Amino acid sequence: MSNNNNLKTIAILGGTGKEGKGLAYRWARAGYRVLIGSRTPQKALDAAAELSQKLDNESHIEGLDNPTAAMQADIVVLTVPYAAHRATLESLKDALQGKLLIDVTVPLVPPKVRKVQMPPAGSATQEAQEILGENVEVCAAFQNISHEHLLQDASVTCDVLVSGTSPEARDETIKLVEAAGLSGWDAGPIENSVVIEGLTSVLIGINKKYGSTHAGIKITGVNKQSAD
Ligand SMILES: NC(=O)c1ccc[n+]([C@@H]2O[C@H](COP(=O)([O-])OP(=O)(O)OC[C@H]3O[C@@H](n4cnc5c(N)ncnc54)[C@H](OP(=O)(O)O)[C@@H]3O)[C@@H](O)[C@H]2O)c1
Repeated sequence: MSNNNNLKTIAILGGTGKEGKGLAYRWARAGYRVLIGSRTPQKALDAAAELSQKLDNESHIEGLDNPTAAMQADIVVLTVPYAAHRATLESLKDALQGKLLIDVTVPLVPPKVRKVQMPPAGSATQEAQEILGENVEVCAAFQNISHEHLLQDASVTCDVLVSGTSPEARDETIKLVEAAGLSGWDAGPIENSVVIEGLTSVLIGINKKYGSTHAGIKITGVNKQSAD
C-alpha cells in the first residue's frame, strides 16, 4: 500500500526492537509514513529495509536516528526497555514538545518481571509526562500486546487499553490502535496507566504458569457499535 498523505507521520523510538518493529509493520501496512528510530542509524535502516521488503516495497518506512525521527514525526511512539526510558525521554524532550507521545514501556524490574513494580511517579507513562512537561500529551497503549501478534497478518483477538492526558489524545491513540488492526478502549486518565502497565506482569506470569507466550486481555459485555 502506498503512503496516504492525509495520514500522520509516526516515529517509533527503539523501533528496531521486537515490539516497535511489529507496530511499524502494522502502521506501514495501513499506509502511514513510519520512521524507525534507533541509537544506531544503520540498525534503523536495516529494520526499515526488512519491513519494506515484507510489504513488497510498497510502504513508506524510513530508518533514522532517534532524535531525527522524533523531530520529523507528528506522533511519537516509545518502545525501549524501561532501563532506557528516562534517559531516552530526557534527551528528546525538546523534539517532543507539542506532540503526542504513545508510551509502550512497561516498568519491568528484572529478574522479578512477574511482580508489579511501579516507579515513584505511579507508572512509566506518568513518569514520561513528568519528564516532558504539560506541552506534551502522553498516552499508554499496547503494553498488553505481545510482539508475537504484531509482525504477522492474522487478526488479533486481544484488546488494547488506552489511558492518557486528555480524551482527544486517547481518541487519536485509539485511531492508531484500530489502524494496526486491533481493538482499542478508552481506559481513562493517565493515572490509570498503572493498571495497564501492571497487567503486563500478570500476563507474563500467566504465560509462565500455563505454557503460553502471548496471553492477552479482552473486554466483554460492551457493544462498541451502539456507543459510537
Ligand atoms: N516484546 C513485547 O512483546 C512487549 C509487549 C508489550 C510491551 N513491551 C514493552 O515495549 C518496550 C520494548 O520492548 P521490546 O521487547 O521491543 O524491547 P527490545 O527489543 O529489547 O528493545 C527495543 C529497542 O530499544 C532500544 N534500546 C535497548 N537498550 C537501550 C538503551 N539502553 N538506551 C536506548 N535504547 C535502547 C534498542 O534499539 P536501538 O539499539 O536500535 O537503539 C532496541 O532495539 C519495553 O518497555 C517492553 O516492556 C514489549
